[in-house]
Amino acid sequence: MDDTSIHMEFFSGDRQTEAEYRDEVTRAGEVAEEVAAAEERQFAAPPDRLDMFVKPDPAIVDIPHTAASPGDGAHGAVEAVDTKGPRALDVESFTTVGEGEHRVSFTRSQLNVMVTADEPILPAAQRAGVRIGMNCQQGMCGSCKSLKLEGDVDMKHQGGIRAREIDAGKFLPCCSTARSDLIVDA
Ligand code: FES
Repeated sequence: MDDTSIHMEFFSGDRQTEAEYRDEVTRAGEVAEEVAAAEERQFAAPPDRLDMFVKPDPAIVDIPHTAASPGDGAHGAVEAVDTKGPRALDVESFTTVGEGEHRVSFTRSQLNVMVTADEPILPAAQRAGVRIGMNCQQGMCGSCKSLKLEGDVDMKHQGGIRAREIDAGKFLPCCSTARSDLIVDA
């Protein structure tokens, strides 16, 4: 008996099967509630996005970060310097590929992908070898949903992302173009 048949029997109203899997069904309900509660907590108090990538060096205590000056865009905002030089996320050290006026920095791939202002970000990223899930490529399914750490995009989605996800910094690269240099968690 596979998972599908279990669900089919349960929902068909078979009391014996329902009783047999009562514990599992109860636990599944609890897990679903825990996941929903965790999601609510995350949206209620999103972590400082940059903290995820600025790994503290235990040998360095309270090192002041360089303040980003207006107009620095994505570059200045993520650089932290001390007497030992730049640390943390240094997009300048990433390999840069492609051509265009905006730089999209992918932190996990350590790639900077140059894109034009009217070029959807997802295909450019995939050409460069950045691994981002995708399906519909029309802003509907949400498969390509990614976290934007810095910068602005022009996104024309069709229901594949919720308003609160956008507020939390997420976007759909399949239906987004860059309005500025970007830093993306991918
Ligand atoms: S691939 Fe479906 S929303 Fe981007």
